[in-house]
Amino acid sequence: MTVTTNNPSTEAAPVELVTFTIDGTEISVPKGTLIIRAAEQAGIQIPRFCDHPLLAPAGACRQCLVEVSMPDREGNVRPMPKPQASCTMTVAPGMIVKTQHTSAVADKAQQGVMELLLMNHPLDCPVCDKGGECPLQNQAMSNGRPDSRFTDVKRTFPKPIALSTQILLDRERCVLCQRCTRFSEEIAGDAFIALQDRGAHQQIGRFDEGVLGFAGEPVGPVDRPVGEATNDTSGRPFSSYYSGNTVQICPVGALTGAGYRFRGRPFDLVSTESIAEHDSCGSAIRIDHRRGQVLRRLSGEDPVVNEEWITDKDRFAFTWQSSADRITTPLVRENGELRPASWVEALEIAAAGLTQARQDGGVGVLPGGRLTVEDAFAWSRFARTALGTNDVDQRSRVHSAEEAAFLAHVVAGSGVGVTFGDLEQAPAVLLVGLEAEEEAGITFLRLRKGATGKAGTKVFAVAPYATRGLTRMNGTLLPAAPGTEAEWLTSLTTTLGGGLSPADAPTSDIDTSALAQPGAVILVGERLAGSPGAYAAALGLAEATGARLAWIPRRAGERGGVEAGLLPGLLPGGRPVADAAARAEVAQAWGTEVPETPGRDTAGILAALADGTLGGAVVGGVELADLPDPAAARAALDAAGFVVSLEVRASEVTERADIVLPVAPPVERAGSYWNWEGRVRSFGAALESSALPDHRVLHVLAQHFDVDLQAASPTDAHLSIAVTQRSAWAGDRLAVEAGAPAEPPTIGPGQAVLATWRLQLDAGRGQDGEQFLAGTAKRPVARMSAATAAGFGAADGDRVTVSTQRGAIEAPAVVTDGMVDGVVWLPLNSAGCRVHDTLGAAAGDLVTVTVAVAVADRSEGTAR
Ligand code: SF4
Ligand code: FES
Repeated sequence: MTVTTNNPSTEAAPVELVTFTIDGTEISVPKGTLIIRAAEQAGIQIPRFCDHPLLAPAGACRQCLVEVSMPDREGNVRPMPKPQASCTMTVAPGMIVKTQHTSAVADKAQQGVMELLLMNHPLDCPVCDKGGECPLQNQAMSNGRPDSRFTDVKRTFPKPIALSTQILLDRERCVLCQRCTRFSEEIAGDAFIALQDRGAHQQIGRFDEGVLGFAGEPVGPVDRPVGEATNDTSGRPFSSYYSGNTVQICPVGALTGAGYRFRGRPFDLVSTESIAEHDSCGSAIRIDHRRGQVLRRLSGEDPVVNEEWITDKDRFAFTWQSSADRITTPLVRENGELRPASWVEALEIAAAGLTQARQDGGVGVLPGGRLTVEDAFAWSRFARTALGTNDVDQRSRVHSAEEAAFLAHVVAGSGVGVTFGDLEQAPAVLLVGLEAEEEAGITFLRLRKGATGKAGTKVFAVAPYATRGLTRMNGTLLPAAPGTEAEWLTSLTTTLGGGLSPADAPTSDIDTSALAQPGAVILVGERLAGSPGAYAAALGLAEATGARLAWIPRRAGERGGVEAGLLPGLLPGGRPVADAAARAEVAQAWGTEVPETPGRDTAGILAALADGTLGGAVVGGVELADLPDPAAARAALDAAGFVVSLEVRASEVTERADIVLPVAPPVERAGSYWNWEGRVRSFGAALESSALPDHRVLHVLAQHFDVDLQAASPTDAHLSIAVTQRSAWAGDRLAVEAGAPAEPPTIGPGQAVLATWRLQLDAGRGQDGEQFLAGTAKRPVARMSAATAAGFGAADGDRVTVSTQRGAIEAPAVVTDGMVDGVVWLPLNSAGCRVHDTLGAAAGDLVTVTVAVAVADRSEGTAR
């Protein structure tokens, strides 16, 4: 029998095969295959605990022992003196392996190991969260002794230990397989937990922050163990964005999630495969629910996207979809108050109001970034056909005309481009306007795998400081103040694409030559919209060096929105509004005219609502606090003549809307996201629900305008999309013209340039109601270089006030090595640190920094 690997990332090049015998069957597998993997491929089960296909072999638990015989130099096959761990030994030519199925020696060895593991393991399966899906429980039945010879008192520990607010440890259940510590070190690079002690006292725990080298890092709230700790009395919680994966791969019930603990039994749950909605990675997840309630989410398995890992946000943040402020019925405003109404009444009033608004100047459309592909196409078609406008923009964030042109030129209609697999194998990756760990968590894991693996990917980041994420990718900082990213990109274009050697270039002290190698990738984030010229410069660099270019937005729906034409100058498939042939193609697909007047972007729509140029708006999942000037956005909606809101939950928009039409959250509807790679990620409804998706609501609303949106059902929506996308746009694409460079700010005494981006766990509404997850969010800090801090008279740990004329934010100062001078960084939207809202400022703006409380004055000790 010949068995070849099914690893999709393996090249198709011929592989050297090794022939050996297992349980009497001769098989051939690729050289270097572990015995346990070869056995899997031959359909032979070997029990195991520490083995995991995505972790390096450890040989920690000894449960996978098999009998092995090897040919000696003369070719005589001789048995090895003791059973061998099949998860650490690779196959060899002529090797003979006997598993427990054919060897009494292997069977006895496995039973002995199992007996040792069970010696101190509690018999609490009936109350253990892992009961029913526990490898120890299962393999004790399949490969253990039928009865116990242990009569002594079992070892116990105080329990549980809170490794963080969301991860709890019951140490007596632990079998010391080290999957959790190996995952944390190898995959996430977050060695917050480790083995402590030796022998019978060996246990998993948290170490003192000094031991693991975290002293000086800002930390989240420090929770204390629930029980009295014996070893684990140390400081830093398990503050990893990926900590929930350890719960999933723990082969026993030693690690549990605080939100799910004691709330369900695996055999009571219904599982539905789905796609995570929190970022643009499109991670596969499994939703476990019971009687209409989601109890937990797990990582799905998808080797080409998220492998078997998800972020804690994707795992734990799901209660927002069932929160108390869910809108369950249409609402209409009467005498200033919203009151429940029937769908018929609400849709009639909405249609009448929008018709009037069209006559009063037009309707602006702000769909937001949460939409599925089906919704996005329906919104785009609704705007163009029912409302007759190109005033449509999905970007509820900092945005620019240069960005819109970049998306039309590079992203729309480009299909699957750079993939996660490409990142792992690229010689170099340049990140610009993107902090991968915070803004696209799985992208960080795949980048880190490339950086720490065989490919040795060199990661560069144009940013104001080297984040912890960049450091864990062994990355190199190309230091840049916000707004100056284009300078680096232009410099690299000159150096790498213009014939200059790195030594001749202005930035000769950093070797960036790997970025010119074939296969190099440039990843740009949505934040570049705030940096005039940066998108154009990134495109110029890609063209000059041959590097591949990909755009990674933060929200799940934004890539699909670009494809659907949810931008003022863009129709579906990358067709420019300004091009008559492009409009004709779309008009033919839709069977109706497409407006040719260029549309307004989000800022333009809000301004036109504020001054009455536009008569009304239709708004989707827009959080006003995400906009660069939330106060102006609120004022605009307050001033708008008529506002229709399609929302899942009550929001600042619904507070101001005349009609509120409830729409279904992802868990209650089927749909697809277009992830940043350009891959369509489809999911079904996990829960039965009468809630309607956006495309269905818009379809019915459009009927009041005598327009058939062809989006009544997901099937109709797919057909409509297919017709719209029938042919690729072959005409000219929008040219990317660099935005006018902003005047370099003149930094006065006590001032700095603001840098800011969102942290993965922050005050976003997608995390509402998940208190355990919130406990692991990073505290807001104000980062600055030592020289900048000294200029403010601030020391590390001082509380500083960062202010504008609009307002002020107070946070502990963290002096950060290598940070660009004259810059202060704040998290964009964390608890107590809402930059747009409080400061009315965005990245690149000037802020004033003063010392609020010096370290010496504080009585509570350091707040970091
Ligand atoms: Fe293994 Fe679980 Fe113990 Fe970690 S806590 S070593 S994953 S058994
Ligand atoms: Fe082989 Fe643990 S699975 S030693």
